[in-house]
Amino acid sequence: MHKVDVLLGLQWGDEGKGKIVDVLTPGYDVIARFQGGPNAGHSLVFNEIRHILHTIPSGIFHSGKINLIGNGVVIDPVIFRKEIEALESMGISPRDSIYISQKAHLILPSHKILDAASESSKGETKIGSTLKGIGPTYMDKTGRNGLRIGDTGLPGFKDKYNFLKKKHREILKQYDYYDDPEKYEEEWFSGIELIRSFKLVESEHFINQLIREGKSIIAEGAQGTLLDIDFGSYPYVTSSSTICAGACTGLGIAPSSIGNVIGIFKAYCTRVGGGPFPTELLDETGEKLRKQGMEFGSTTGRPRRCGWLDMPALKYSIMINGVTQLIITKSDVLTGFDRIKVCTGYRINGEITDQLPFDTAQTLEPVYREMKGWQADISKITDYAGLPKEFREYTAYIEQETGVPITMISLGPDRAATVFPPR
Ligand code: GDP
Ligand code: IMO
Ligand code: MG
Repeated sequence: MHKVDVLLGLQWGDEGKGKIVDVLTPGYDVIARFQGGPNAGHSLVFNEIRHILHTIPSGIFHSGKINLIGNGVVIDPVIFRKEIEALESMGISPRDSIYISQKAHLILPSHKILDAASESSKGETKIGSTLKGIGPTYMDKTGRNGLRIGDTGLPGFKDKYNFLKKKHREILKQYDYYDDPEKYEEEWFSGIELIRSFKLVESEHFINQLIREGKSIIAEGAQGTLLDIDFGSYPYVTSSSTICAGACTGLGIAPSSIGNVIGIFKAYCTRVGGGPFPTELLDETGEKLRKQGMEFGSTTGRPRRCGWLDMPALKYSIMINGVTQLIITKSDVLTGFDRIKVCTGYRINGEITDQLPFDTAQTLEPVYREMKGWQADISKITDYAGLPKEFREYTAYIEQETGVPITMISLGPDRAATVFPPR
């Protein structure tokens, strides 16, 4: 039986998953999203075209592939429509290759309003949500109130929609925030019509059949482990299971069907939105990382917070996911630093630990190991041997500390800027 490989972000999202899935797609028949929704922004660059995907799997630019949107994903029909139109304007016809789970949940206009209302009520302690309605939609899913893709074809769909909207309006009365969901309904229902013209499938049967047929499958994670609902820096997290186990529940595949677990991490760290970030740099070094890495959100355009690589956090993510191979991205961004720092632990009340404490509000000082940087531009390098010694020492240190091999090195946003270390 062919196994399903799972590709995941090991930090706070934006590790470069879109680019890497695009690079790996020629080796797979099926690319499947299993959680998250349009809070994701996965960027791909090739032939000088830059494209950002939110709901659609990152295999879409290669022909002859199946792109599956699994049951664990939440879909906003308005954003889905825009994504389809953008692809069609590039001459891609995604209609043949996209399959959508009947069990995927729908983001209603009122979910987005509830997201905004909840955030504005929190003031300083807001999560920094992408305001795409993610939290309220997953709340309705677990609260057993949600609407699913399959419901759109059943009699009474409009009634169910109105029932949920009414409920949301009641909840909104508790907030000092108001917006009218009806303003957005025309667009939303037209998006529903478009979705209905796609292949809507019983995705758990569909994918298990593909596994039996020996098809090669990669599950594309969104967000990152440190944003996971259980293991992320709660409550500053997203509302889905971003970890490897999420691929099982978000696609309907057995744990025994998982093959390689491919973990992606940036050569440094970024975070967008609120929440703890032990290695955050609020000085000119952080500014330099943001500038060189062009660290502005793909979905919201917000500046991303930047800091050094956090080894305890990386090792934690590797543990939770059972990562079997690592991919380092944005390595080129570390060029031009005299010294590069890596956090090896945290000092809390004079004691050094390599575990983030439950209470992250206490004073926590990162302990750093310093390494020599490199000055040569590495963004055009095409073979591993051509990489500076200092960079190879950096990756060798990470492999040694984690015990997991780095199988791919990304040196730029383009598909082509990718180097494979010899094995
Ligand atoms: P994702 O959400 O994990 O798919 O990542 P995003 O697309 O949101 O953010 C990653 C950003 O870095 C995008 O702008 C990519 O085009 C870019 N990128 C990806 N890999 C590299 C790399 O190796 N070097 C540089 N400089 N940029 C990269
Ligand atoms: P990709 O797939 C980075 C962050 C938000 C916020 C928190 C909760 O592109 O890596 P939500 O809208 O999910 O309720 O927001 O999670 N967040 C992301 N940060 N990359 C993402 O996705 C993210 N998706 C959500 O900024 O802090
Ligand atoms: Mg992103």
